[in-house]
Amino acid sequence: MAKEKTIYTCTECGGTSPKWLGKCPSCSAWNTLIESVAESAAAGRNRYTSQFQSLAKTAEVAVLADIEATDVQRTPTGQDELDRVLGGGIVEGAVVLIGGDPGIGKSTLLLQALDSLQRGGQSTLYVTGEESGAQVALRSRRLGLDACQVKVLAEIQLDKILATIDALQPDVAVIDSIQTVYSDQLTSAPGSVAQVRECAAHLTRCAKSSGTAIVLVGHVTKEGALAGPRVLEHMVDAVLYFEGETHSSFRLVRAIKNRFGAVNEIGVFAMTEKGLKGVSNPSAIFLSQHAEPVPGSCVMVTLEGTRPLLVEIQALVDSGGPSPRRLSVGLDRDRLAMLLAVLHRHAGVACMDQDVFVNAVGGVRISEPAADLAVLLAITSSLRGKPLPKGFFAFGEVGLAGEVRPAPRGQERLKEAAKLGFTVAVVPKANVPKKSHAKEFEGLTIHAVDRVEQAMDIVRGLG
Ligand code: TYD
Ligand code: MG
Repeated sequence: MAKEKTIYTCTECGGTSPKWLGKCPSCSAWNTLIESVAESAAAGRNRYTSQFQSLAKTAEVAVLADIEATDVQRTPTGQDELDRVLGGGIVEGAVVLIGGDPGIGKSTLLLQALDSLQRGGQSTLYVTGEESGAQVALRSRRLGLDACQVKVLAEIQLDKILATIDALQPDVAVIDSIQTVYSDQLTSAPGSVAQVRECAAHLTRCAKSSGTAIVLVGHVTKEGALAGPRVLEHMVDAVLYFEGETHSSFRLVRAIKNRFGAVNEIGVFAMTEKGLKGVSNPSAIFLSQHAEPVPGSCVMVTLEGTRPLLVEIQALVDSGGPSPRRLSVGLDRDRLAMLLAVLHRHAGVACMDQDVFVNAVGGVRISEPAADLAVLLAITSSLRGKPLPKGFFAFGEVGLAGEVRPAPRGQERLKEAAKLGFTVAVVPKANVPKKSHAKEFEGLTIHAVDRVEQAMDIVRGLG
């Protein structure tokens, strides 16, 4: 096949250049030229006009209410926690991107899912570009998947992969990983932004036309630096990310985009010697097991997705050098700086000359502001060297004016903590249950606050 010409297109302004340049000749932006397949001039010119002409002839406008809204068909993958994040199962012709650090368990989870789909009567294809067929077989034995009928293709060339999908017409295909696939229309190396984008676009088109659901695996480094998944997010139907630390056994899979379901839904897995096992009742796994309360630790209830999770926030405040450090793991660092300013200004607690470290236990990432109050209480507890009382938890968003704002669905959070035996809570006033519901929270002492300084006073009174 004759090689098609490639051109370099600027991602900022769309300008083109026949060869790679550091600076875009049209808009002078740096490092924005990306290789792409050149379309012949005639095709390029006519692409839109001919499309619109044919549209004008054939397209009909319908009133929204008259269009029959058939619910999408979902096929459960057999992995309950994965189904939860997908919104009930995998949808025909959908493209799902699963991102995560290397070694976190993407291949393991998908092989398990394909195996149970295959056992459920779906035809499946596992395309591996990173491992040989033998390595995949070894993993399947290790996972205890006997007589696994999943078809395996060890291939990295896009055309061959597309041809195989076309020939086999599987219900679900996994591409592990998109960074290894390359199209020989482009000269850039596999894994480069140009290749990843081009290959993903072809695979997406293939999914839409054939009805095969395609799962793309993508690696992301901690910095998110690796070329790839991020540029794909807008192309695919659902984006799932693996969270968790590779050295702890728990893994979270979070949906950050889902055209067929809710976002921010979390699936929780434990990595065992037999692969990933769903954790159906995860609310207490992100608590470290102290026999007695220790300074600098405060439990909060986070509610991302549909399930409340109890997470321990730890803080360490220690005298720092001339330029003290603020570090956070699992929480937003800018938010930490803001909270420290609020703490100083409104509660009179100064950490200016101190190093402040905060950490969400278990590798979970908390993006909701309801963690604010717990972060502040953990910091003051560490600063004073005084633990919070046993069975204590807190949640609530803190504003710049020092006000404590309610967290969404506060009652559910309170209920979950009460269920797990927590007894004392400091929460925003608006989250306090009504008198008529008081029975459901028996055994739980709830302190309502609407200012940061109030929370500090209450905690001082408790300790
Ligand atoms: P893997 O799925 O290969 O990660 P990824 O595809 O995201 O790079 O999983 C890798 C890790 O999981 C590896 O460090 C070993 C561990 N593991 C287990 O603990 N138990 C198992 O049954 C399997 C298959 C892997
Ligand atoms: Mg892998």
